[in-house]
Amino acid sequence: MSQFRAVIQSVGHALPKKVVTNDDLSKIVDTNDEWIAQRTGIRQRRVCEGDEGTYSLAVEAARQALTNSGLSAADIDMVVVGTVSGDYFWPSTACHVQDQLGIKDAGAFDVSAACAGFIYSLANATAMIESGAAKNIIVVGVDCLTKQVDWTDRSTCVLFGDAAGAVVVSARENTDRGVQKTVMLSDGSGSAYICMEMGGTKFRPGRPESEGRTYGIQMAGAEVYRFAVHAMGDACVRVLEQAGVKPEEVDLFVPHQANLRIIDSAAKRLELPPEKVFINVDKYGNTSGGSIPLALYEAVESGRLKPGMLVLTVGFGAGLVWGANLIRW
Ligand code: UT7
Repeated sequence: MSQFRAVIQSVGHALPKKVVTNDDLSKIVDTNDEWIAQRTGIRQRRVCEGDEGTYSLAVEAARQALTNSGLSAADIDMVVVGTVSGDYFWPSTACHVQDQLGIKDAGAFDVSAACAGFIYSLANATAMIESGAAKNIIVVGVDCLTKQVDWTDRSTCVLFGDAAGAVVVSARENTDRGVQKTVMLSDGSGSAYICMEMGGTKFRPGRPESEGRTYGIQMAGAEVYRFAVHAMGDACVRVLEQAGVKPEEVDLFVPHQANLRIIDSAAKRLELPPEKVFINVDKYGNTSGGSIPLALYEAVESGRLKPGMLVLTVGFGAGLVWGANLIRW
């Protein structure tokens, strides 16, 4: 068994420039600031315009994380990107990041785990580092779901925003820092609760069999809500149990930012006080794969996350998938 730990060296992020408030949305669908804020905690979100998109956000976040790590492109031997909204169906967003950052002699691949994309990607990176297969990995979480959303559907279009976050993870020996434990879980029987029917090979635009199918995110909100409340608690309890850590030992809880009520219920289950719970859903909405690494970036920048702290990250999303990473920062 190797002694390598997967230690996070640095963070980066990228956000589109355009801010869309709840009041802005009330001009295009039948909604209002009060409903959105009360049900979700969201007050505004960032939305890609023009050339901005998943590729550009991923590259910017990855470049920032690489610069902040003090490493060079030549040191990176793997790029992993958690996303379900690449500019193209294929090739991968990871290959674009690899190319744009001038990374050579490295692997690159995307991980499809929706809003748990960063959790799954970091878990993969950790396994590669602990096995000795890679030394320095850029892990990106990114999504641009505002380009997939149906802007006439008020029950979904108010929820999402665009963002990317990235970390550089490196192999380190003789340290208690690094990813302590990860859990990854799934239940494909709930795949219809949140999905994109069009865009794959089954329902292609313009084909007769696609008649009546809409392009855009389909979501059964109440079912996803029930699943999310269960999934957050489940993943956290499992990862803490596996690590032999009590909830009160967690210094900072960084959950997927989908809905303030879902975050509150998870924090309540773990009996975590508000000062240990990181929240930015009010500013960005649900940024899917970008959500957790963006929150980690902001937690570091604001001084709430410091080396040595124990941070619990948890995500859930389409698949259905859920999971958690417990990290000694
Ligand atoms: O990463 C995974 C992504 N997805 C999620 O995390 C979503 C999880 N689900 C949720 O967060 C919540 O279910 C929602 C925020 C989507 C909805 O909240 P809710 O409290 O479950 O509301 P609801 O769906 O039960 O709808 C209540 C009412 C309905 O009207 P009626 O039928 O009671 O007259 C909706 O039509 O609110 C209406 N409604 C809206 N009203 C104003 C739905 N969307 C809106 C809206 N503005 N944007």
